[in-house]
Amino acid sequence: MINRQQLEKLTINELESKYPFIITFFTDNKLDVEDYSDDTFIEYLEHFTEEDIEEWAIDTSKLIEDIIIYINRMLEFLGIKEDKSVDSLTIIAGHDKSGNDEGFGEITINKSEIISIVGPTGSGKSRLLADIEWTAMKDTPTGRSILINGEEPDKKWRFSSGNKLVAQLSQNMNFVMDLTANEFLELHAKSRMVENEEEVIKKIIEAANNLAGEKFELDTPITSLSGGQSRALMIADTAILSTSPIVLIDEIENAGIDRKKALNLLVSKEKIVLMATHDPSLALMADKRIVIKNGGIHKVIKTGKEEKEMLLELEKMDKVIKAMRTSLRKGELITNSVN
Ligand SMILES: Nc1ncnc2c1ncn2[C@@H]1O[C@H](COP(=O)(O)OP(=O)(O)OP(=O)(O)O)[C@@H](O)[C@H]1O
Ligand SMILES: [Mg+2]
Repeated sequence: MINRQQLEKLTINELESKYPFIITFFTDNKLDVEDYSDDTFIEYLEHFTEEDIEEWAIDTSKLIEDIIIYINRMLEFLGIKEDKSVDSLTIIAGHDKSGNDEGFGEITINKSEIISIVGPTGSGKSRLLADIEWTAMKDTPTGRSILINGEEPDKKWRFSSGNKLVAQLSQNMNFVMDLTANEFLELHAKSRMVENEEEVIKKIIEAANNLAGEKFELDTPITSLSGGQSRALMIADTAILSTSPIVLIDEIENAGIDRKKALNLLVSKEKIVLMATHDPSLALMADKRIVIKNGGIHKVIKTGKEEKEMLLELEKMDKVIKAMRTSLRKGELITNSVN
C-alpha cells in the first residue's frame, strides 16, 4: 500500500521501477512524464501553468488521489506483496516515571539515520529500545506508541520470527543452547534462507573475530564464548545475516570489543539505527541524540558541526585509551610513552 506521504518522496523513476504498471496510469491520463523522471509526481504536476490547467482541464489534486488509488488497487489485484521496507519510525510521546507527559508530541526517525540515546543509569534508555522492539501501543510502562511508516504497525511484526522488524542487540546476552558457533550460524542462515550458507558463515566468523580480542573457531561451543566474543558474534551475525530494517543496540561499549568497528559494521544506508550509549564518541557519531531523564524523552539534539569536530578530539583520546588498554591486557606497565 502507498499513501500520500510516501508518494511525495518517490521520484517518477522510482515509482516506475517499484510499480511498473504505473506507466498505464500515465498514458491513460495523457501525462507525459518522460522529461521528469527525477521529479516526484507532485513536482511534475506543479510544472503545469495556469493556462495548461485550464486548457486541458487538469485537476491536480484529483490526479494525486487517483494515482494512489490506482497503485493500491493494482497491488491488491495483482496480489503483490511489497517488500517490507521501513522508511520511518515515529515515537509518540507517553509519560516519564512520575507520570508527567513527555512534552515533545512525536519524533520521526527516517531511514539511514543513526540515533543515539543518552541519559543517566536507570533513566530509561533500554526501556525506550524495548518500546520500539515491542512496537508499543500505549501498552508499556511509558505509555508511548510507535508508528512505522506513519501508521500503526501490523501486528505480525510483533510475532513473526523470520523476517523481524527489529534486530535487537541487548545488554544481556545469555546463550542457553548447546551448539557450536557453526551450528548456531547454520540455524540462522537456514531460517533466513541464504543461498551461499558456508560462505556467509565464514564471513560472520571473520567479522566477529575482527571485533573480538581472542579468536574463536567454527567448532567452539557458543556457551564457552566469552562475553565479548559472544557479543562480537551477535553483532557480526546481525550485520551480515539480518534483514531487519531497524537495528537497536544497547551499550556496545562494555563488551571489550572494538566498538567503532562494530558500529560501522551494523550501520547501513538502508536501516534505522538506535543505540543506547554512555560513550561520548559513539553518542556523537549519531546524527541526533535523544536525551532521557527520569524515564521520559527530555530533548533531541542534532549533532552539529562543532560537535562533529569535537568527535575528532575524542577519537584521539580514544586511541590513547585503547593503546593503554592493549598494554594493560598484555601485562605491560602503563607509562607515559603511549602518547
Ligand atoms: N516512563 C517510564 N515509566 C515507568 N517506568 C519506567 C519508565 N522509563 C523507564 N522505566 C523503568 O525504569 C527502569 C530503568 O530503566 P532502564 O533499564 O531503561 O534504564 P537505562 O537507562 O537503560 O539504564 P542503564 O544505563 O543502567 O542501562 C526499568 O525498570 C524501566 O522499565
Ligand atoms: Mg540499559
